[in-house]
Amino acid sequence: MNPKSGIYINFLPDHTHVSVSQKDQSVLDVALRAGIEIDHTCGGHGTCGTCLVRVVEGLEKLAPRNEIESEMAEDRGFRADERLACQTCPVAGLSVQMRRS
Ligand code: FES
Repeated sequence: MNPKSGIYINFLPDHTHVSVSQKDQSVLDVALRAGIEIDHTCGGHGTCGTCLVRVVEGLEKLAPRNEIESEMAEDRGFRADERLACQTCPVAGLSVQMRRS
């Protein structure tokens, strides 16, 4: 995890650390603001699943899935460490593995 203060997301595999500047900012929002490409076909509405990331570090500090994400996780059989970047808002540091498109 990044030793700097504040909340950071470490985007893997490139190890790009990006600070979370606003409360309730999704992982997808943080990535896009930093110019990091994450597929997001539905525009962040939680309907496409293309923004799926694997949480490598910090999963235990995330809030449980919301209703939108829970439905998709059940339908598609997400693993416990797989989260929709558009529906996940970090409250502590995270490391996430992005899929390569
Ligand atoms: S961008 Fe479509 S589910 Fe996240």
